[in-house]
Amino acid sequence: MRIVITGSKGQLGGALQRQAEAGGHTVLGMDLPEHDFTDIAALHATLTQFAPDVVMHCGAYTDVDGAERNPDLAFRVNALGPRNFALWCEAAGVPLLHFSTDWVFTAPPERSTPFREWEATNPLCTYAQSKAVGEWYVQSLTRRYYIVRGSWLYGAGGNNFIAKIVRAADERGSLSVVTDEISTPTWVEDVAEALLKLVSLPIAAYGVYHLPNDGYCSRYEYATEVMRLTGRASVPLKPTILANYPRAAQPPQFSALGNFVGAELGIKMRPWQEALAAYIASTELKVESYKLKVES
Ligand SMILES: NC(=O)c1ccc[n+]([C@@H]2O[C@H](COP(=O)([O-])OP(=O)(O)OC[C@H]3O[C@@H](n4cnc5c(N)ncnc54)[C@H](OP(=O)(O)O)[C@@H]3O)[C@@H](O)[C@H]2O)c1
Repeated sequence: MRIVITGSKGQLGGALQRQAEAGGHTVLGMDLPEHDFTDIAALHATLTQFAPDVVMHCGAYTDVDGAERNPDLAFRVNALGPRNFALWCEAAGVPLLHFSTDWVFTAPPERSTPFREWEATNPLCTYAQSKAVGEWYVQSLTRRYYIVRGSWLYGAGGNNFIAKIVRAADERGSLSVVTDEISTPTWVEDVAEALLKLVSLPIAAYGVYHLPNDGYCSRYEYATEVMRLTGRASVPLKPTILANYPRAAQPPQFSALGNFVGAELGIKMRPWQEALAAYIASTELKVESYKLKVES
């Protein structure tokens, strides 16, 4: 297939481009500064010239706190960006896979059932609202769409939660982590594999999907597992709550996603603990002895 992949310098788009090329697909990776998908005329010309069989849109403005300071940028990229793809895809008859986020949902931390694909969204902060509007444009402007939501992504080279807490642990020797923010850590390699499966199904199964790794946990449980897997189990972890960490963007407390629709088609995701162990094993994050590491 000829595939356009946006956000190709980012965590998910990067993994997707590598896997798609390894699978024999011809890929046009689009990212800043060469390709700005908010420039509708330039974007449509590029798409027409490349003539993709499918567009996989993973690029986004992902600075959630920055979105509160610069909402126009967040809406231009996260809402009008997908609209620009939807308009071209509908006119050309090309399927659009649009990647979205668990942040379109929120529930109190006591909730224990992951959100199903058809539940009503209720985005809290500007980033989440801009992503929800992006979903709405895709759903209302094109018929051949896959909207796939994911959560707490990590992958090679990303400045994600894992990179941040390992750095903080090594600098400070202890961590405070919240217990009332709950979702699912997800390895972008697993998502990329699932997305390629989805667009290659013999039936064009358009619609909304939730494809995080399986299960869910709090940030505190996630950090505990990262410390254990990277050989830093002796780092003291102090449980705390979101109210103690005022920040520009308000995160959802419970936003875990359940994969019901994808699983029915045989697209299943492994448990988050297994994916995390595989990811850590593929990195240099593991230390043999935490004590030796901090002393050296
Ligand atoms: N990270 C998470 O935890 C998470 C969780 C759930 C869902 N998601 C969603 O998953 C997708 C991928 O996330 P990710 O973590 O892989 O993001 P990422 O690493 O931040 O990558 C996003 C890429 O998109 C690029 N981009 C931004 N504006 C653009 C524009 N106007 N034209 C072209 N490219 C542009 C960014 O470039 P710059 O870096 O130069 O801005 C970046 O390279 C996004 O849709 C995100 O909303 C992410």
